[in-house]
Amino acid sequence: MINFKKLAAAYKTPLYIYDLDYMTKQYEELKEAFKGRKSIMAFAIKSNSNLSIISHFANLGSGADCVSIGEVRRAFLAGIPSYKIIFSGVGKSDDEIREAIEKDILYINVESEAELGRVELIAKELKAKCRISVRVNPNIDPLTHPYISTGLHDNKFGVEIEAAKRMYIRANNSEHLDPVGIHFHIGSQLTELKPIYESAEIVADLVRSLASIKIELKFFDIGGGLGVRYKDEVTIKPYDYAQAILGTLKGLDLTVICEPGRFLTANGGYFLTKVLYEKQNGAKRFVVVDGAMNDLLRPSLYKAYHKIEAITESKTEESEADVVGPVCESGDFFAKNYPLPILEHNDLLVIHSAGAYGFGMGSNYNTRGRSAEVAIKGDEVKLIRRREEFEDLIALEKEFLEN
Ligand code: LLP
Repeated sequence: MINFKKLAAAYKTPLYIYDLDYMTKQYEELKEAFKGRKSIMAFAIKSNSNLSIISHFANLGSGADCVSIGEVRRAFLAGIPSYKIIFSGVGKSDDEIREAIEKDILYINVESEAELGRVELIAKELKAKCRISVRVNPNIDPLTHPYISTGLHDNKFGVEIEAAKRMYIRANNSEHLDPVGIHFHIGSQLTELKPIYESAEIVADLVRSLASIKIELKFFDIGGGLGVRYKDEVTIKPYDYAQAILGTLKGLDLTVICEPGRFLTANGGYFLTKVLYEKQNGAKRFVVVDGAMNDLLRPSLYKAYHKIEAITESKTEESEADVVGPVCESGDFFAKNYPLPILEHNDLLVIHSAGAYGFGMGSNYNTRGRSAEVAIKGDEVKLIRRREEFEDLIALEKEFLEN
């Protein structure tokens, strides 16, 4: 049991708290599910990019799925070996491509024919041969929130099958490209197995048809996307997920790469915030807290549900309230019409499932410093990022101030 009161007293609020033992358990369960094959779990750094969190997964043997050169640098700093680092994303700049080639990562995941051209050119300049995979868009509806759906032709990600084929043929004929992998990722917070399975079939068929023209790939990258329980979702079991995918790979000698983010981190994270005030506007009850949308954006951006637990002596009956932050936006809320007892100044609210896409999507809007982050392992609590102070926020502007 995490002692939230003690943590609030020691580190102040708002505060992100991560349970590393939970994250280990999730990692091992997923890795174990793929045990019949060679596999690499490449942690999707975007879900939680704190260096200590990445380093925790590095120690478990994880690789890294990165979507910017900044994330690639984080992966290196945290001790992920180069041969387990993948670089994806629809819009990589020349500088990013150059650095990824120089760093000799496992492969660059190419997302368009135009990008393949850039990668080839830059590899040529560097007199290198760049390992690549192609991100295939299988045009399958992942049945998730439209903002986190990526596997339809309407979405900007990846290329269609015919384009992918052309890209592999071109890469295979190039002195500077080495096609080693194939990738798909159809969306995030997936709770239905069928679209995943159907996509894997389509992509595995492409691998077979490439093999028939002597283009032999080594890596089958299934992306991330495994959903978790925020409220009452029925989630896919890692075993069933792995079985469904492995079933499509019969007769193929491929290393499976999985890019889990949320599955590893979401429910291992808590956002701790303090009650400032209760207020009533007509019939509407508000609980105003010291955390805000700049700390945890998911409720504002996706209307995402996060369970809220009140730590209070209050014995009053629960009634519905909107839990809101101090930011000057009506969209600044953690929950609407959430049943809570009457709360006192300094009572604590624990916002659950905040370990993925929490801190990382934060900002300094309203000149609010981002919160501190702590990690718990066994009985040990460690600060892994200090709270941002006002001086941090103005550091890059101050020297330009004329007066
Ligand atoms: N691989 C690729 C290529 C991805 O685009 C993503 C997530 C992942 C792996 C990891 O997906 P996960 O296992 O975490 O579902 N901010 C949104 C989620 C955006 C996901 C973007 N891509 C949210 O808060 O729900």
